[in-house]
Amino acid sequence: MTQSGTVRILGIAGSLRRNSFNCALLADAQELQPGGVTVETFYLAPLPMYDQDLDTETAPPAVQAFRDALWATDALLIATPEYNHGVPGVLKNALDWASRPPQHQPLRGLPVAMMGATPSMWDTACAQAHLRQVLVFPSALVLPPPEVLVANAGSKFDAEGRLADDTTRTFFHGLLVALADWTRQVGRPRQEARRLTNA
Ligand SMILES: Cc1cc2nc3c(=O)[nH]c(=O)nc-3n(C[C@H](O)[C@H](O)[C@H](O)COP(=O)(O)O)c2cc1C
Repeated sequence: MTQSGTVRILGIAGSLRRNSFNCALLADAQELQPGGVTVETFYLAPLPMYDQDLDTETAPPAVQAFRDALWATDALLIATPEYNHGVPGVLKNALDWASRPPQHQPLRGLPVAMMGATPSMWDTACAQAHLRQVLVFPSALVLPPPEVLVANAGSKFDAEGRLADDTTRTFFHGLLVALADWTRQVGRPRQEARRLTNA
């Protein structure tokens, strides 16, 4: 947290699509953010595919930038589609990079919340359950419910791609409030977390 107590949230989306509903959700987070919270987004496209041969002391620049952004934030907000009832490869790949090296990795102790949008009648529940499983081993502190599941997304965004459904906006605002509270309860200043993983 900043000295003024502001909770910094980093948003990532599990889609690279130009008109992605999930990227649009993250863009709306900046509008819906409650007082005392800031939301910034990190775009995952520049990350290479995980290759343990590339995972040396000098990480690829895009990977280093992602890890630095995770160290610099107080909490992580993930907006993800569901691909074949699971987490899209682009998101799993990013989390695999973030989870290394095991003794000094920025997901440990990082408060995380998730949400997901799909144009289908399903609601990304399978992907979110899968994502919770993926975050266990790196020891992220995943927010219990509320869950934000946006089905029929095509009817919930306006022509400019802004979230136009009031019920969804209320749920989403509640998620941001809950993540900020969760971070104040269980989060640890990231500099302190970095020091402890080095200890
Ligand atoms: C490979 C692939 C698998 C998909 N599997 C699912 C699925 O299991 N459940 C679902 O609701 N939608 C599924 N979809 C549809 C996505 O929800 C849809 O493409 C969505 O718009 C992707 O999110 P985005 O708008 O953020 O890019 C799949 C799409 C792709 C390309």
